Amino acid sequence: MNVRALAVSPTVFDSANEAAGAVARRLVALVQARPDAVIGVATGSTVEPVYRALVELARQTQVVLGGVRWFALDEYVGLPPGHPQSYREVLLRQLIRPLGLAPTSLHVPDPDADPGSYDELIDAAGGIDRQLLGIGRNGHLAFNEPGTPFDSPTHRVALTDDTRAANARFFEGEESVPGFAVTQGLGTIFRAREWELLAFGASKAAAVRDALAGPVSAQCPASLVQRHPAVTVSMDAAAAALLSAEHAAVGRPA
Ligand code: GLP
Repeated sequence: MNVRALAVSPTVFDSANEAAGAVARRLVALVQARPDAVIGVATGSTVEPVYRALVELARQTQVVLGGVRWFALDEYVGLPPGHPQSYREVLLRQLIRPLGLAPTSLHVPDPDADPGSYDELIDAAGGIDRQLLGIGRNGHLAFNEPGTPFDSPTHRVALTDDTRAANARFFEGEESVPGFAVTQGLGTIFRAREWELLAFGASKAAAVRDALAGPVSAQCPASLVQRHPAVTVSMDAAAAALLSAEHAAVGRPA
């Protein structure tokens, strides 16, 4: 591939757990500086080690997290309330309850509400200070599939077959994965003051290459990362495999 300077330099860690530890330490530092921080949270395999690391670090440091407001990126449409794979339940299980926090501190898009009301809720909280982001193997961010306009607000979306297949592992087969979701739009996500983008594993290597080294294009929603002014990108070697050596920063402790 063409070697050119990247707009954003990723940090490549030896393992997902090391990267997750660095992200968790930065989150604790954020909350120590701003106890009522607004943190945007993702769901999926990528962020699970971050939440495990944060729970452990919170225990060690005794950081006070009770003032933090948490905003999820997206939610499935059509799952019954309390369904274990609804993103509200996933975040309650992986993050909010282990941290001993009130469920009311977690905001998740309401599939039955006007999607625009979620953007208003975020604005009313003062905007998102830091947004955790995974990347879909087709380059999606949250559930913003290829082709989504960069200025989109929170909206309802039909999931692609690729995304439904990727998420089938959380359900009893692909046919049980909902066909629709409500997602923060790319415009919503872009307004977060800082991004923490994470990618682990070989299945993300092409999306990582396209996002960081390809053209900024709606065909790869994650390429928006190249335009954001305050981005930290952390990955493992497998996810970085299609970036040339010149593109990857030396792993650095955070
Ligand atoms: C999911 C989520 C995204 C997530 C991405 C990657 O469908 N909606 O927010 O970042 O796809 O998921 P994973 O981390 O499981 O690979």
